[in-house]
Amino acid sequence: PRNADRGPGGALRLAGVDVRDLAGDYGTPLMTMDEADFRSRCRDFANAYGSAEAVHYAGKAFLSSEVLRWLTEEGLSLDVCSGGELNLALRAGFPAGRITLHGSNKSDAELALAVEARIGAIVVDSFDEIARLAGLVESADRGEDDPIPLMIRVTVGVEAHTHEFIATAHEDQKFGFSLAGGAAAEAVRRIVVCRGLRLIGLHSHIGSQIFDPSGFEVSAHRLVGLLAAIQQEHPELADTLTELDLGGGLGIAYVGSDDPPAPDAMAKSLLDIVSRECQFAGVATPHVVVEPGRAIAGPGGVTVYQVGTIKDVALDGGLVRRYVSVDGGMSDNIRTALYDADYTAVLASRDSDAAPVLCRIVGKHCEAGDVVVRDCYLPADLVVGDLLAVAATGAYCYAMSSNYNRVPRPPVVTVAAGDTRLMLRRETDDDLMLLEKW
Ligand code: LLP
Repeated sequence: PRNADRGPGGALRLAGVDVRDLAGDYGTPLMTMDEADFRSRCRDFANAYGSAEAVHYAGKAFLSSEVLRWLTEEGLSLDVCSGGELNLALRAGFPAGRITLHGSNKSDAELALAVEARIGAIVVDSFDEIARLAGLVESADRGEDDPIPLMIRVTVGVEAHTHEFIATAHEDQKFGFSLAGGAAAEAVRRIVVCRGLRLIGLHSHIGSQIFDPSGFEVSAHRLVGLLAAIQQEHPELADTLTELDLGGGLGIAYVGSDDPPAPDAMAKSLLDIVSRECQFAGVATPHVVVEPGRAIAGPGGVTVYQVGTIKDVALDGGLVRRYVSVDGGMSDNIRTALYDADYTAVLASRDSDAAPVLCRIVGKHCEAGDVVVRDCYLPADLVVGDLLAVAATGAYCYAMSSNYNRVPRPPVVTVAAGDTRLMLRRETDDDLMLLEKW
């Protein structure tokens, strides 16, 4: 986070809060979210794209009612990808007109909820979905004067350089309508014949944790080409097809050597490309929209664990690997096990000038793959009871957490200007029994 430093005794402070106090007040493991960090990243994107509303925070990265309040106050829009996320947003009073709903297999109930709540747009992902929406138009009695706003998700054929599981716009995957194969143009035809549906935008999401901006540039270029082709075929759409959504995916630094592009530099080049190419193609420049999740929520999150066991394991060749076991693990951060993600950790409860030792930080789960940090250096005098902090856990950690081994989820604590506030309480064993029929 932007607001981390070392205080008395060399203990880590997050937004001015000593991690020893956090551990004492809330127990470990715990996750912190730095409010000022989160909000400042919202503003960075809003400034970069010239409007807060053009920035659709991707709720899948991390969502809670408090985060929704920050987003409402910052004026951002919101991207949700399930009825669960949509329901939380509506319940928290997030303005429905600023929500878009994604998903490659939305249920009838999810579509009906979105239509009834009059959200900003539904991003359609298949011909089946268009047919189902056409049916909903009938039953919801939505006609030409009150159409349901849609965007179509386009597979632009870009290979983003990221982990295979999170790269989404090359052709051989489940999302979107293929541009090259003509499915996107056919989707437009099926939408325009239904008077209760209105196409307001084109959408593409090329992947996640991306450092190389060229993939977004190619995607923008191809979407403008499609926009021009659509307007030629359907000139009546010129006034209403006005959004170009380039999706999320901007990467963040997980370890010190990472150097992701800044939102403003990337925005400038994307906005330039879109306006230049629109001029060239003779179409009005659309509003450029983006959907960052990780780049807003990720850096401000820190997980604090307590060391429970330290074990030196002999490897071949006389080497030793120090396994440091903490009181959480793959249930609060599956990303290392799932994506081979890089994280790093520091001794957080004190300073030490002991020599650094190569360590592997592992969790408490009954699985050898339960690794939190594959390799990092910790001081040789590390002892049981020390606190460790793992940085950049704000996105896709709590959001992907589980109760594997019936381990309750940690709390999420807001840190702000030297103060703390419980955002999400710790799960209890009783919570885990709520679904039992006995
Ligand atoms: N928009 C759409 C349509 C998406 O599918 C996603 C992410 C985003 C926006 C936000 O992308 P971001 O800016 O956060 O990269 N669980 C994986 C990431 C999966 C991302 C899925 N879609 C991880 O932990 O790395």
